[in-house]
Amino acid sequence: MNPVDRIQELTQQINHYNEQYYQNETSEISDQEFDFMLKELEELEAKHPELKLSDSPTHRVGGTITKDFATVEHTYPMLSLSNTYSEEELREWDERVKKGLLDAPYEYVCEIKFDGISLSMTYENGYLVRGVTRGDGTKGDDITANVKTIRSLPLKVINTETFEIRGEGFMPNTEFEKINAQLLEDGKATLANPRNAASGTFKMQDSSVVASRNLDCYVYQFLSESDTYKTHSESLEGLKSLGFNVSDSSRLVTNIDEAIAYIHEWDQKRHTLPCATDGIVIKVNSYAQREDLGFTSKSPRWAIAYKYKAENKSTKLLGVTYQVGRTGAVTPVAELKPVSLSMTTVRRATLHNADEMERLGLVIGDSVFVEKAGEIIPKITGVDHSQRQGELFPETIKFVTNCPACNTPLKRTEGEAAWYCPNEKTCPPQVSGRIEHFIQRKALDIDSLGQGKIEILIENGLVKDPADLYQLTYDKLLGLEKVHTDEVTGKSRKVSFKEKTVENILKGIESSKNQPFEMVLFGLGIRFVGQTTADKLASYFKNIDALSIATEEQLLQVPDVGGKVAQSIVAYFADEENVQMVAKLKAAGLQLETIERETVSEGNALEGLLLLYTGTFKNYARQELEDKIASNGGKLVSGVSKKLNYLIVGEGAGPSKLAKAEKLGVQMISEEEFEELLTS
Ligand code: IVH
Repeated sequence: MNPVDRIQELTQQINHYNEQYYQNETSEISDQEFDFMLKELEELEAKHPELKLSDSPTHRVGGTITKDFATVEHTYPMLSLSNTYSEEELREWDERVKKGLLDAPYEYVCEIKFDGISLSMTYENGYLVRGVTRGDGTKGDDITANVKTIRSLPLKVINTETFEIRGEGFMPNTEFEKINAQLLEDGKATLANPRNAASGTFKMQDSSVVASRNLDCYVYQFLSESDTYKTHSESLEGLKSLGFNVSDSSRLVTNIDEAIAYIHEWDQKRHTLPCATDGIVIKVNSYAQREDLGFTSKSPRWAIAYKYKAENKSTKLLGVTYQVGRTGAVTPVAELKPVSLSMTTVRRATLHNADEMERLGLVIGDSVFVEKAGEIIPKITGVDHSQRQGELFPETIKFVTNCPACNTPLKRTEGEAAWYCPNEKTCPPQVSGRIEHFIQRKALDIDSLGQGKIEILIENGLVKDPADLYQLTYDKLLGLEKVHTDEVTGKSRKVSFKEKTVENILKGIESSKNQPFEMVLFGLGIRFVGQTTADKLASYFKNIDALSIATEEQLLQVPDVGGKVAQSIVAYFADEENVQMVAKLKAAGLQLETIERETVSEGNALEGLLLLYTGTFKNYARQELEDKIASNGGKLVSGVSKKLNYLIVGEGAGPSKLAKAEKLGVQMISEEEFEELLTS
């Protein structure tokens, strides 16, 4: 038989036996026969890699090595859920749903909120063709090879339309414990918790290691262009019959009381599930009703997450250490006697700042209460004074006076909680933190560099600020190396710069020159200038030169820029070294101005009018709305004043703007009314 036919035959047969084994728990052939067939297929595929089928069972054992994950745009954005810890707020949400649906009857589906990493899988012509991480919600990493190792995820289905499946990828608790036991035996650092272990594993480059970790995925959403299903509960049934792993824990209910009963029922029971959980999701069942309710800018109005309150335990305080962040802020960290909290072992907890430390009045050896906030970062919530032994008025731990990394005396600005290390330029964690901030996806997006590689560059004196990245050359990089220990997984690995690595780094740096001005501005890491502020500054000042000479008063004209932000920007550009760094970035060819769009005149309906908008809109992105105003002769202003003719109010409008407009009697209009203005 020729290899084409034999590969096809083996693929089909092995898939059939797998299905019998995993879904119907029957073995039609012996293990040995099965292994022989699999081996034959592996060998044939190795000889003819181009013949490997998309649903080959060998995908389950991995083998593909992905150097850099490609970034893929999501067809449907991956939104988040609004969440609450209170039953009262759930009832308020229910009232809003009822009102939004004009008192028509409705049902909810209650589901467990699984705590892993969200995944999006695309099927085309019946085959699983892509698996992507959530990323920033609009685009994520293509981790198809890794996703294909999930045995409960069908590689082939009978439905041939193009559709997407959303689900939560996770590491089963039993698998997590097994891996940790092995790591411990090997004398290696253990994995922190199942969630981090899953997210670390899904991002591994060698899919055969991923396969060995037996990841799993619960599926909870079906998306396609056709009306395959009318309700969510139907879609879950449909997914189940297509062979997907849909948790049996979901329940259809007819009112909020039943949903709350479900929450109570699963409060403890959820710990028996194979996956970490952090709450319950309540979703409107009917798709038509979901459409009526719509979305806010971030999340659907038809769903809400109820989060269980964090578990709280007491343990012994062994000491306090300090961490220095990118901006020099020093965070105290409590070192604790290990304690098990919500399935993970907690050894450290944040103490936030000096005030919090003082409030707690800690003494070494104290019994402290530890809680997991949002089940991720543990924190100390109090001291159990009844357990304190020894002196009546013992010496409490005092916040450090000097930087733990570079020994510079710390400073604190009046009114601020954090102590800062003022040695911005040479304090090691500040230098590396600034570069890590600069390269992140939301900024210059140089994903061929990471913490480990940056450490190497700094240690070799090649980089001390982001502009130095643009002076790197092939010869300077080739051959550099270091042993790096991953903070999350605790795994040590040698990072070394071989030809391909160097090429990728240089390629990443080169393409970062195309990142738009607002992302570069965010990447500079000016204190208090987050992504949204950077966007606003960029569209207001248009280029870095104008921004760098702006006075506090001018900066305060920019929407949402307050005194603290304005002062920080002025201080940044008053520093000659920063100015020089920016000049170097400019010389390197980075985008330091917004690309001017030509205003095409559409009409003069807004001639002579001053307009401002707040919130987000259904039919326009921010820039589109601004263009629309300009091309119809209107003028966009930066703040609410008496002179303002219209405030266009969108979803999630700023309450202070609304209040001011109300007070000054400025007319507020909706997106629809704005569109009517254009045609009037
Ligand atoms: S539905 C529009 N259902 O929670 C969002 N999400 O905060 C639709 N998650 O990114 C998501 N279990 O990773 C949904 N049963 C469940 C879930 C669930 C866990 C995660 C998911 C999502 C995040 C939203």
